[in-house]
Amino acid sequence: MKKSTRVNHPPAVDVPAGNRPLVAPIYQTVKFEFDTLADTERYLRGERPGFFYTRTSNPTTRQLELLLAELQGREDCLVAASGVAAISQTLLALTKQGDHVLCFVETYNPSRYLIRRLLGRFGVNHTMLSIEDLAGVERALAAQPTRLVFFESPTNPVTKIADVSALTRLARGAGALTVMDNTFAGFHQHGGFDVDVFVHSLTKYASGTGDVMGGAVIARSELIRSMRSDFGAVGATLDPHAAFLILRGLKTYFVRYQAQSASAARLAVQLAEHPAVARVHYPGLPGHPQHALAARQMTDFGTIVSFDLRGGAPAARRFADALEFFALAASLGSTESLVVTSQMMGGRELSAQQQRMSAITEGTVRLSIGLEDPDDLQQDLARALTAAES
Ligand SMILES: Cc1ncc(COP(=O)(O)O)c(C=O)c1O
Repeated sequence: MKKSTRVNHPPAVDVPAGNRPLVAPIYQTVKFEFDTLADTERYLRGERPGFFYTRTSNPTTRQLELLLAELQGREDCLVAASGVAAISQTLLALTKQGDHVLCFVETYNPSRYLIRRLLGRFGVNHTMLSIEDLAGVERALAAQPTRLVFFESPTNPVTKIADVSALTRLARGAGALTVMDNTFAGFHQHGGFDVDVFVHSLTKYASGTGDVMGGAVIARSELIRSMRSDFGAVGATLDPHAAFLILRGLKTYFVRYQAQSASAARLAVQLAEHPAVARVHYPGLPGHPQHALAARQMTDFGTIVSFDLRGGAPAARRFADALEFFALAASLGSTESLVVTSQMMGGRELSAQQQRMSAITEGTVRLSIGLEDPDDLQQDLARALTAAES
């Protein structure tokens, strides 16, 4: 064998049976081969297990899928290149021309865009309500056959709590599937409810370190099976190296989520007591309008604390600029704390009435609490609130 051939066929190193690495290898390969054409044909006919091409399956991404399905308490999972890729592929896979989708003003902006603009172009209609309007949901479901009810909880950024059991009951009664974006709550929450499909951005709590993007759809086998070929065909595949990084992040998921939630709860109290703050949105606070519902549905109240500054946009600007440990950046759920003001949030396409329903004001600020020492974060907030008042 000439050296130019050898570099394309390097020596194989097999790990002997009974001798395993503690961390599974990254199968950083696009292609897999079988020993013979007959075996390849048997695989392609679905008569033998195996892997063939990473866009449709890969052992590293499969390991992540199996872990996520178990964490969320469902049978199966498909991962994708980002949270939005998981959401768009799920919406495309589950709807067809003439279908009707129910969604909410409080839904993450790109999800609303996908339902309104992308599905709209393919003849899928939608109704958009407030997540608080259960009577409206009942009326909308009675008015026309509905394929999907798409919602999230807590909502972004003002942490409204969807009544998951009421929504799933109404949807089930009307023959609609529920799709819940569970990114804010995390994989360990809401699994006990009758939700058909969970979608997640893995970019957030799963990775934890904000250095990799990914998304997942988690559901019973029959639904995942029905979506699998569309996911493969659309092709927004998660790279095996990204899957490895997310698997690594998940090892510390529970300790991160709980520590960050505990800091968030403490900072929410600090904000609620400050005169510059008109209102705090944190479901763990007894004063949150849906605290009792959140306490019934959730084990942790999450790491997002939003609040409205009395001084409106100028105060929000002074506050954000004065912070030292909170980066002015999008995203959430990572180990570093982040701040977003209403000027950085989308939603401009909403009508005036819908904007009122969204409860975002000029002085709304969203904090994503990280893993820094809570004393440092508390002092940073105190300094920035003084700046907001000046
Ligand atoms: C609730 C929610 N869903 C989905 C996404 C999209 O995730 P990604 O950025 O991984 O596409 C985000 C991102 O901020 C989000 O907040």
